[in-house]
Amino acid sequence: MKIVIIGGSGLIGRNVVSRLVAQGHDAVPASPATGVDTITGEGLGEAVVGADVVVDVSNAPVWDDDAVMKFFTTSSRNLLAAERDAGVGHHVAVSIVGCDLLPDSGYLRAKVAQEAEIEAGSIPYTVLRATQFFEFLRQIVEAGAEGHSVRLSTGLIQFVAADDVAGTVAELAISAPVGGRIELGGPEALGIDAWARRLFAVTADSRVVIADPHARYYGTELRGGELTPGEGARIGKVDFDTWFAANQQEVR
Ligand SMILES: NC(=O)c1ccc[n+]([C@@H]2O[C@H](COP(=O)([O-])OP(=O)(O)OC[C@H]3O[C@@H](n4cnc5c(N)ncnc54)[C@H](OP(=O)(O)O)[C@@H]3O)[C@@H](O)[C@H]2O)c1
Repeated sequence: MKIVIIGGSGLIGRNVVSRLVAQGHDAVPASPATGVDTITGEGLGEAVVGADVVVDVSNAPVWDDDAVMKFFTTSSRNLLAAERDAGVGHHVAVSIVGCDLLPDSGYLRAKVAQEAEIEAGSIPYTVLRATQFFEFLRQIVEAGAEGHSVRLSTGLIQFVAADDVAGTVAELAISAPVGGRIELGGPEALGIDAWARRLFAVTADSRVVIADPHARYYGTELRGGELTPGEGARIGKVDFDTWFAANQQEVR
């Protein structure tokens, strides 16, 4: 199968490309680095010619509210139009568990808008809603840094390894379109404060973790299990200890 991976140089994208290539597929990474830009349209039509499937794992280069909304809506519209012209049979995209439950977050609003473009379009599709990647645990914890402490929400997150996300995307890309959403989370849900304690324990970080139910997560307050997947979700295999053992050089 010819499968074009938009965002094929990114964290998830490069993993998806190598998995599909290893399975014998013609997996083609496409992004500004290879002369394909979903915002300007440069190289886009040519990139999707002959593709059976297009996987969109691109991400906005800037995350302020207006810019990220513009990125995901413009990019999805341009991409879906190019797919229509080329007769692509399946569009696979990665979204975020609970994005529709937290409208105070500009980034999550933009992911809802991306899903709406896909669902309103004519290309058969599969949307994978994943939870937060372990690879972003450090960034999420540091967002609460206050001197020698970190102030973090007690809201639940069910971190999943990027490798489990990429494995699921690669599997969905060679399967029939679902015409809806599939959820994927990691093996364990904990409050963000509890994740920070676990990270600090293995990295010998002496900072104090302050559990604050009102601390914001990317501009939004978490009230319950908005970021944890529902019943029937797929669960990744990689737990925190396994992920940390494999990635500790980058995490420290
Ligand atoms: N972070 C999380 O915890 C999380 C959770 C659930 C879902 N997701 C979703 O997962 C997806 C993949 O995230 P990631 O962390 O793998 O992304 P990433 O590592 O930031 O990679 C972003 C990719 O997007 C490409 N890109 C940027 N602008 C582009 C444009 N104008 N046209 C085409 N490609 C463009 C980049 O290409 P260049 O390298 O060429 O610039 C790069 O390949 C995102 O949609 C994100 O919303 C993330």
